[in-house]
Amino acid sequence: MFWEPIAAVRAVVSAANGVARLLFAAQWGGLLTTFKRTLVTSALPYANGRIHIGHLAGAYLPADIYVRYLRMRGQDVVFVCGSDEHGVPITLRALKEETTPRAIIDRFHEQNEAAFRAAGIEFDVYGRTSWPEHHALTQRFFLRLLEGGHIEKRKTQQYYSEKMQMFLPDRYVEGTCPKCSSGEARGDQCDACGTSYDVTELRDPRSAVPGDGSTPILRESMHWFLRLDHFQEALQEKLEGRSDWRRNTLGGAQSWLREGLRPRCVTRDTSWGVPIPLDDPDAAGKCIYVWFDAPIGYVTNTQAWAERQGDADLWKRYWQDPACRLVHFIGKDNIPFHAIIFPAMLMGQSDYILPDIVVANEYLNFLRAGEAAAAKFSKSRGTVIEVGQFVETYGADRLRYYLTAIAPETADSEFSWQDFLHRTNGEIADVFGNFVHRSLTFAVKSFAAALPSAGELQETDRAALAAIPVARDEVARLLERFQFRQAQAAMLELARTGNRYFDEQQPWVTRKSDLERCGTTLHVCLQLAAALARLAAPFLPASAARLAAMLGLEAHDAPGSWARIGETPLPPGTPLTKPQILFPKLEREEVPE
Ligand code: MF3
Ligand code: ZN
Repeated sequence: MFWEPIAAVRAVVSAANGVARLLFAAQWGGLLTTFKRTLVTSALPYANGRIHIGHLAGAYLPADIYVRYLRMRGQDVVFVCGSDEHGVPITLRALKEETTPRAIIDRFHEQNEAAFRAAGIEFDVYGRTSWPEHHALTQRFFLRLLEGGHIEKRKTQQYYSEKMQMFLPDRYVEGTCPKCSSGEARGDQCDACGTSYDVTELRDPRSAVPGDGSTPILRESMHWFLRLDHFQEALQEKLEGRSDWRRNTLGGAQSWLREGLRPRCVTRDTSWGVPIPLDDPDAAGKCIYVWFDAPIGYVTNTQAWAERQGDADLWKRYWQDPACRLVHFIGKDNIPFHAIIFPAMLMGQSDYILPDIVVANEYLNFLRAGEAAAAKFSKSRGTVIEVGQFVETYGADRLRYYLTAIAPETADSEFSWQDFLHRTNGEIADVFGNFVHRSLTFAVKSFAAALPSAGELQETDRAALAAIPVARDEVARLLERFQFRQAQAAMLELARTGNRYFDEQQPWVTRKSDLERCGTTLHVCLQLAAALARLAAPFLPASAARLAAMLGLEAHDAPGSWARIGETPLPPGTPLTKPQILFPKLEREEVPE
């Protein structure tokens, strides 16, 4: 590797194992100048079911907000997602429905892509791991690691169902957890206590294949292992001193490192996946493990995006140039894969950058009215809230607002219909919606639908206007630290300032006593509203666009527009449109329960 150390970045290049290591001493704030480009990824959802609003809050909505913000800062960003179409979740579902994995992935790929679009989440590409290009790239990754001595073949014991005449990978086996004795443990992992173990440690194993249920036996099977231990030291160094990583993410990665990285099996006894690219009888009937191929999907999908841009090599500027910052948004169950395993796989390629930061969210649960504790969104309990339908009923921005307001950033959080009603009514309708509505209505009525000019500014006017750059910088600071919840609250605070100012200035009184003063007040209010149209754009894109249109504010979220917040006021005389209500209040009867 060959790059020059850039400001705030210490690049430590090591020839050992052909492994390149990057150590970042960078803190937030300097990052937008340190990196020329940003590649943002959201975890690829399995195409075995519909995504629901609990998923949105984790890996997707915060990433979308971040990307929209970076674009407004003028950053060069690519935002990548797509379907994860291999693995046991897909084959299990196909077995249950007595159909093919292909039919399953085709159905859910399309549905999920549409659900994201409905929620205003705008990926630059939504790819598929079933693409032939993805299979080819995964095989190249595999071979490169093999050639580097980082993948090797080993003898293993695997569960085998004599009844079904098949090996039973991972989740095809259930039994009793060796640690906590939960009877619901999966082959190599227990959801009850969170331990992972070797399949052979599972007690009382039984086959989970639909229609099987027999007790499997252990059989010998050859498999390929990724020598994660080769990367232990490099990964440790990479994570050192990263106080900008969230505690859950850093802690999750460090606990793996503390236990010591061990070789990890990256193939499975299944025929649904990427074939092992070896002419070896031991590879027959086996595929590369889904967790090996899925993160490579980020690369494949970037390549597909580049292709569509008409420049097939463009992806290299994002994956192979250290001036690009790679940022992964995920749910917490994906931490080891993004903070340990995928970086190791990338190091083993030797010409890829590594993730600079992994942003993991905790879980969003569902709190049912009258119940004390929240539980997972669950189909059988009827608490799964489907995205498309939600958006159709309440609008994308109301969903985005609420999910960000309760974002599970540092701890699990809960969705409840009552809270949804109260917060969206009390915050976006009463504070944001109300402020822009009363300001616009007043100006349209009393100043002939044109922005009045300001007379001499008084202290209160100056203070209200000065709140704009303060809010702008606070929102920016928080977004760059991935504190979305607080960032959105800081945006809303500017609307609160506006309402307070409007109330104090009483333009409905000065309209009769001092029209110039009244005009000044409205001038200031509408500058605040214009600032809000930009500040709200990452969070509430559709509403921000409508507000901008009513204000005659052009290109409110165009690349680079962030810097114009508070710097380029709306000129007096700007034609204003009679406002529509941005967030009509919801009645109690309009939400379930
Ligand atoms: N499909 C996985 C899940 O839903 C996430 C895959 S993320 C990727 O948990 F990096 F592997 F793509
Ligand atoms: Zn357990």
